[in-house]
Amino acid sequence: MPRNLVIYPGSFDPITNGHLDLVERGARIFDELVVAVLLNMEKEPLFTVNERVEMLRQVTQTLPNVSVDTFSGLLVDYARRRQARAILRGIRAISDYEYELQMALMNRKLEPEIETVFMMPAESYTYISSRLVKEIFRHGGVVKGLVPPIVEERLQRKLAAVGGQ
Ligand code: PNS
Repeated sequence: MPRNLVIYPGSFDPITNGHLDLVERGARIFDELVVAVLLNMEKEPLFTVNERVEMLRQVTQTLPNVSVDTFSGLLVDYARRRQARAILRGIRAISDYEYELQMALMNRKLEPEIETVFMMPAESYTYISSRLVKEIFRHGGVVKGLVPPIVEERLQRKLAAVGGQ
């Protein structure tokens, strides 16, 4: 039987509890789940790709069928190389839908054999995004409960490194 591998792509700058919830859900229904971090997406990410991969590995280490990788170029090319059956994306609210639908249909046009599967994170995480986490953190707000504890620590260190602004 071919294994059912799914790619969960994104920038994960940084991983939030919403992402982690989706990884756990995906890992329950697919044989293998690869969290794939896009290289060079944002010009000025808060965390380097290596830092993001390291954090992702730490927070997923208890999930035996989950691994972390990076990719560049087209997602469908990477998914094809990994012999993935599907791409996993999270939908938090209707506002995500339009962009996600466009991406899913474009990816299907490029590679009809690979399906995009949407899953919803737990309701309690629907308002969390990496962008808002960074914004809150930069302005000294509390991110507890929004990101895994090790990400919170890394955010603290990052802030200390840039002079605790
Ligand atoms: O979580 P994000 O940051 O919204 O992830 C976006 C991502 C990485 C899934 C998307 O930008 C992507 O797949 N980029 C790779 C380039 C590509 O394949 N573009 C065409 C998508 S239709």
